[in-house]
Order: sequence, then C-alpha cells, then structure tokens
Amino acid sequence: MSRTSDLWWKNAVFYCLDVETFQDSDGDGIGDFAGLTSRLDYLAALGVTCLWLMPFYPTPNRDDGYDITDYYAVDRRLGTLGDFVELMRTARDRGMRVIADLVVNHTSKEHPWFESARQGPDSPYHDWYVWRDAIPEGGPEGLVFPDAEQSNWEWDEQTKRFFLHRFYEHQPDLNIANPEVRAEIRKIVGFWLQLGLSGFRVDAVPFLLETDGIATGMSIMPHDWLRDLSAFLARRSGGAIMLGEVNLEYDDVRTFFGDESGDELHMSLNFNLNQAMALTLVRGDAGPLIHNLRAMPALPDRSAWANFVRNHDEWSLDKLTEAERREVFAAFGPKPDMQLFGRGLRRRLPTMVGGDQDRLRMIYSLAFALPGAPVLFYGEEIGMAENLDIPGRMSVRAPMQWTTGPNGGFSDAPAKAMRRPLVAGRKWGPAGINVQDQDRDPDSLLRWTERLIRRRRQTPEIAFGEWRVIEVPEAAVFALRYDWGASVAILLHNLAAEPVETTFALDREDRAAGLRCLFGTGEVDVRKGGKVQSRLPRYGYQWLRVEREGG
Ligand code: GLC
Repeated sequence: MSRTSDLWWKNAVFYCLDVETFQDSDGDGIGDFAGLTSRLDYLAALGVTCLWLMPFYPTPNRDDGYDITDYYAVDRRLGTLGDFVELMRTARDRGMRVIADLVVNHTSKEHPWFESARQGPDSPYHDWYVWRDAIPEGGPEGLVFPDAEQSNWEWDEQTKRFFLHRFYEHQPDLNIANPEVRAEIRKIVGFWLQLGLSGFRVDAVPFLLETDGIATGMSIMPHDWLRDLSAFLARRSGGAIMLGEVNLEYDDVRTFFGDESGDELHMSLNFNLNQAMALTLVRGDAGPLIHNLRAMPALPDRSAWANFVRNHDEWSLDKLTEAERREVFAAFGPKPDMQLFGRGLRRRLPTMVGGDQDRLRMIYSLAFALPGAPVLFYGEEIGMAENLDIPGRMSVRAPMQWTTGPNGGFSDAPAKAMRRPLVAGRKWGPAGINVQDQDRDPDSLLRWTERLIRRRRQTPEIAFGEWRVIEVPEAAVFALRYDWGASVAILLHNLAAEPVETTFALDREDRAAGLRCLFGTGEVDVRKGGKVQSRLPRYGYQWLRVEREGG
C-alpha cells in the first residue's frame, strides 16, 4: 500500500474553504485563522484529508482575495503569519494536509509591483506586466467576465499604454515571458512550501501559460516552465502537488498533465465531467455522463482528476450546447437572478434539487464514485444554500452555519458588523441548517457525509484502479466498475425519482463470487452464474465489492 500514500492526492478528500467565511474568533465579523484552527477537529472528524484554502493574502478584496497585493503575507483581517503557522501545525497534528490558492496569472492593480510598473518603461517592474502602445492583433480572445469588461486590454492614463488583463480590469496579468517574474513565482511557491503547505490549487492555469500574440522573446516554452515548476516543487517538498484550474476541452486539459510520466500538473479539476454530470442529473439519464467518461483522456500514473459538485464560482455550463444549457437552467435555475454570465448558475445544490434529501445524497455519492478524488466546498456537508442577495458569484460564499445562535455561530459580532450576510430564512438559514443539530442526528446529511467520506477512503479502487462502464438497459442507472489488482468495486446510481430494478452479469471469472454492499440503499443479490440483481429506490445508490472465493 505504500504506493497509495506516496501518491496521496489520488485518494484524498479535499475540502475547499475561505478563512474569511468559516469561523470568526475575535468578533469583528470576519473569519480568521484562529477561528479556522479551532474548527480543525470538526474537519478531522468529518474525515477530509486535505484542506484547500482560498486566497488569504493581503488584498483590496475586489475579487474576494483573487486580487493580491503581497504574496508573502496574510491579510491583516484574517490574522498574522504566526496564526497561519499555528493552523499548519495543528492540521498536521490532526493528520490533515493543506494546500492554498496560487494566484499568479495576475496581481491586484494596487500591488506595489504594478504601481511601480505604471511609472513607465524605466521602472524595474514595468516589464513584469504586459504593456502595448496599441491593442495588438492576435492577442487573447474571449472575455472571462463579459458583464463587467469589454476588452482584455485597459488603457492606463498614467503610463499612456495599454495593459493586459484576462480577468477584471483591476487584475493586470503578470508577464511570464520575463524571467524575473518566473523567478519570483518560484520564490512564492518555495515560501509557502517552507511554511508547510502540501501544494497549491493553481488559479487560471491556461491564462497563466498563455503567450499567443503577447510574448516577445520568451526563452522557455510555457509548458516547459510548468514542468520546471513541478520539478521545483518536488525538490523543495516531496509529495507537494499542483491542482490546476483548467476549464478547457479534454484534449487541451490533457496537455497540462505533461508527458507520460505526468510531469506538469498533478491534478486538474474536472470541469468537463462536472458539466456532463449536470446534464445527466437533470435528465435522469446516465447517457451524457457515460458519453463524457468515454471521451475522457487516460492520465499518467501519478496524475488524477479532482471531481466536485459545486465550487466557489458559478456552476459554469460553458461546455454544454446552448440547448443543453437551457435544459439545465430550466430545471436548476429558471429565474434570471439565479443565472450568471449566460453560462452558469449562482446557486448551491440543495436549493436546486428543492431540498430533496434522497437526490442530494445520490448526487454526492455519484460525485465521489467518479474516477478521481472528490472536492467538497465548505457547507456542502450540511446542505447549505446560497444567498441570492449577495451579488454575482459571491452568492455561494455566505458564512458557515455552525449553530442556531446569533450569526449562526460564525461570529459574535453585532449583526450590523457582519461583512458577509448569512443565508436568511428558517428553512435554509442557520435555524434550519447547522452543524450542531446535524451532529446530534444520526440521520443527518452531515453524519451521512462522514460515512460517504469514510467509504470513499476505504474504496481505493476508485483512486488507483481501472474503470469501466457496465452496460445496463435502464437509462436511469449508471453502473461503474473499478478493477485494482484483484480488488473489484462496483458502484450503482439511480438517477431517477422512481425506483428501478436492474440486472447485469459479473465478469466470467467472478461468476462464483459474492457481493458485499459497502454503502447504499435498496437491495442487491447475486444469482447463479454471477447474475446481479439490484433494486434501487428512488435516487438510490449502492457501493459494492466483489468478494471472490478465497479472496
Ligand atoms: C478563478 C477563480 C475565480 C477568480 C478568478 C481570477 O477562476 O476560481 O474565483 O475570480 O480565477 O483569479
């Protein structure tokens, strides 16, 4: 089993959170590192093995911290570097790793580098950004935030030149063609590894590497640079990973994992599969998911996908066709206020499924059963909702709901000092949904999620095995099989609101084998000749292990 711990990320359960919205320890209405540290036992008991911290660096906060003014510090509102180290030390004691967002495609406009760069070509930092006297031909196409920006180039009055920004106008892109910038990025990576991080969630990777029509005289090909960075990580801290945000078509995503040894990114968030899953769920038909899985490129041994249901951004459906997207919108977010940029939904899952507990559980079971490692977004384990009154993508980033007390136990601050509103209402707010109540209730979503995580950790076939779709005639049934050496796991999901019965045959060599249900609902048995008969209730799921004789 040593291989499974050497490649720890393949069987990890990630948990993404924002320090700012998790737990406030000093009553100023803003979450902080000390607060998070006090909640580590909760996370350890939940069973997550790696935390992913959203940006916590000094920031003017115009993009929730994805606009950084200092890469070597902690934002004062969240604590100090000392508090960060306390967190790292405690997490290690509880057996949890920590990764953090690495946002180096761009800085904040208020970063001292950019302020210096604006003084013109004589500034030592001018060439750290991408400047042009006129908007160039062949520059990057497409806008990330079409609601807010009209161009990827912004005229700067002080410099009298245009600068490149792929995201908001206040987030100028760094110029990775400049070797000084690349050296600085290494230094940033080295700094946080030294303080104990196990790697990074690398923000906006394709934009970071993009040089078409921009770079002049880059001495290294972008992918070679990513490869170098990956090797640097391994030298500084064995086992440190890069989990990339690469929302591209499969063939393009594959290139970011590097060669056959997987020498670039270790992991990539699987946006393709996530979007196919949305369609499959809405239709109650396994077809789109199966189709997508079959198009999914095989990965090198050390590499893995990271699967999620929802994340901190809008549920982007940009890979679906216009008609498919409309189908998902109609079912999961029919009101214009629930949609964003014409491409996504700014809701969390529980409201999208109308609070249907069976369906909710089936969906998380499904996400955990897909090839790769699962990523939870804070609050998913208790079924937290969004707050549509918070503008844009921030709707899903409301404070964590701990108790029925004031501010949901998130903060002691007077309500008017709260910087981020909580989810409102008796049903979805802390009165209806909170950790404390669910912790006491053995049937709660929280306690169920604990079991799901445990089951996933104890089914390493998913992380290390070969997967194959089992063909069944019922469109609503998604059946997946994993083979890892002599171990075989079979995972069944009923995507529909009606019970279903399905049968399929085990492989020839398993005709005499038994089946053990590790986790799930309904009933299953194996008949003579290895014929499996499974009865799945509405939105049922079964995690099965094949038990060979003498095995
Ligand atoms: C990524 C993040 C998003 C952020 C953007 C710019 O897409 O997920 O939240 O706004 O990068 O850094």
